[in-house]
Amino acid sequence: MNDLFGLEGEIAVVTGGLGKLGPIWIETLLDAGAAVFVLDRPGQKISEQFAEIQKRFQDNRLRLAYTDVRDRLALETVCKECLEIFGVPSILVNNAGIDRPPDQPQEGYLLEDISMEENREILEVNTLGLFLVTQVFGSEMVKAGRGSIINIGSLYASVSPDSRFYDHIQSDPPFLKPPAYGASKAAVVNLTKYLATHWAPHGVRVNALSPGGVLGDQDEEFKRKFCDRVPLGRMATVQDLGGPLLFLASRASSYVTGIELVVDGGFTAW
Ligand SMILES: NC(=O)c1ccc[n+]([C@@H]2O[C@H](COP(=O)([O-])OP(=O)(O)OC[C@H]3O[C@@H](n4cnc5c(N)ncnc54)[C@H](O)[C@@H]3O)[C@@H](O)[C@H]2O)c1
Repeated sequence: MNDLFGLEGEIAVVTGGLGKLGPIWIETLLDAGAAVFVLDRPGQKISEQFAEIQKRFQDNRLRLAYTDVRDRLALETVCKECLEIFGVPSILVNNAGIDRPPDQPQEGYLLEDISMEENREILEVNTLGLFLVTQVFGSEMVKAGRGSIINIGSLYASVSPDSRFYDHIQSDPPFLKPPAYGASKAAVVNLTKYLATHWAPHGVRVNALSPGGVLGDQDEEFKRKFCDRVPLGRMATVQDLGGPLLFLASRASSYVTGIELVVDGGFTAW
């Protein structure tokens, strides 16, 4: 079994590694034996979880570089750095993204007033940025003739956020998840299929991993409403996500490409 799931000698790139989910992807890959090159945007602070991982792994296994996923030149520079330090990546986890989660509510807005700037930024980072990172790092994988790319989607790639989850949040106008979020993730799932079919002849697999709502600092009322809607009766924990990632990253999924692995406790099953 270790042969199937082991990543000894593999080189992984993880974008958005300093956020909430980044550390579970990074630690899962490191624990399976890979070296991990982490990217995050300039100015992003090192999170407590990432600092804990840095204590466990030296810089011969773990590196951090700062670049915006929308900046092609900067991406090419860090890709060169990754090649020099670790070599050609064999795993890419496209995780960087912008969301508007209910545990960090900002000002509400009416649907008809949502600004184009906000929509544009979400689409640029979540979809176009993901594509740029894939062009830069994925093409190295294509040249090497192997690799596994995992695009982090969301359950909101498939369904609309239920606005009743948020209607207890004191805000006038009401709190809304931006429509561009789900649209950007639906686009990621389709892009995954496009890339999977184009790069399959080059030995590069491309899949999406779409988590459901992940437990964080959400208020009790939100959690109650959300969990009532989940067949498994709870939100995901970050630990629920490591196994699915390892499956897609490793030889265990050697005949799997172009899929969306939905890890949502059954949310989208009814
Ligand atoms: N947390 C959840 O419940 C959940 C559920 C489903 C899907 N997701 C998806 O998982 C991924 C990670 O989510 P998270 O909860 O860790 O979010 P997060 O906001 O905590 O982390 C996102 C990371 O991406 C980085 N980032 C944002 N814009 C960037 C840019 N332009 N260039 C480089 N890095 C940039 C941020 O600095 C941050 O470190 C996202 O794609 C998100 O949409 C999250």
